[in-house]
Amino acid sequence: MSTQELPKHVGIIMDGNGRWAKKRGLPRSAGHAAGAAVFKNIVRYCSKIGIQHLTVYAFSTENWKRPQNEVLTLMKLFKQYLSDALTNFLDENIRVRFLGDETAFDPRLRELIDETVEVSKNRTGMVLNIALNYGGRSEILNAVRLLARDVQNGVLLPEQIGEEAFSQKLDTAGQPDPDLIIRPSGEKRTSNFLLWQSAYAEYVFMDILWPDFKPKDLDRALELYAARNRRFGGI
Ligand code: IPE
Ligand code: IPE
Ligand code: MG
Repeated sequence: MSTQELPKHVGIIMDGNGRWAKKRGLPRSAGHAAGAAVFKNIVRYCSKIGIQHLTVYAFSTENWKRPQNEVLTLMKLFKQYLSDALTNFLDENIRVRFLGDETAFDPRLRELIDETVEVSKNRTGMVLNIALNYGGRSEILNAVRLLARDVQNGVLLPEQIGEEAFSQKLDTAGQPDPDLIIRPSGEKRTSNFLLWQSAYAEYVFMDILWPDFKPKDLDRALELYAARNRRFGGI
């Protein structure tokens, strides 16, 4: 695939862990553990093939609605993943950023998040955005608040609020919009993922469950993307 056909920014909604576990008669937590392993593998693969920005949806602002034990399992997995990332793959040239509101997390998870960002901030390879306690609507509201404050402080005129100024207040500030968004699990909806940024993203919905997702499935999504005709409203 030529680099021109390769998306600069790929988003993945990592969905289907629960159904994967259910199919095997396992607890949902087993599905999340299997999903976390796939996440690690796919991140490495994306970096290897030259994706410049990868955004993965790991926990939405709505996922707090789940039973407390499931939320706790997920928080534990995030901690495990991050401490493992900090000790084991420091050699990988991946820069990690987080999208979402981390203030809702416990101190240990916040510490790990901050440490991961700090340790990887000068890396020059792929940017990995992990969306944790992320919701597109909440991100947009936050941007509105920041802009309103600038106007209130007299450093911005309402007329100066354009798409660029707005984008700069989002968690993805400075990064290109996603070109391709992949959702495995068979669901065909955005579930509040990158609402503003996905205005012209190409969506690929796949029937596979996330814990079964392999590099070849990513290749398949990239092929589908490469065959699309993106017009951005033109002809
Ligand atoms: C995705 O898998 C993981 C998170 C949302 C945290 P699910 O847990 O949503 O799996 P299904 O959709 O119930 O199968
Ligand atoms: C979207 O999956 C969020 C993540 C993958 C983190 P959900 O499983 O929460 O989405 P819905 O509830 O099916 O829309
Ligand atoms: Mg789901």
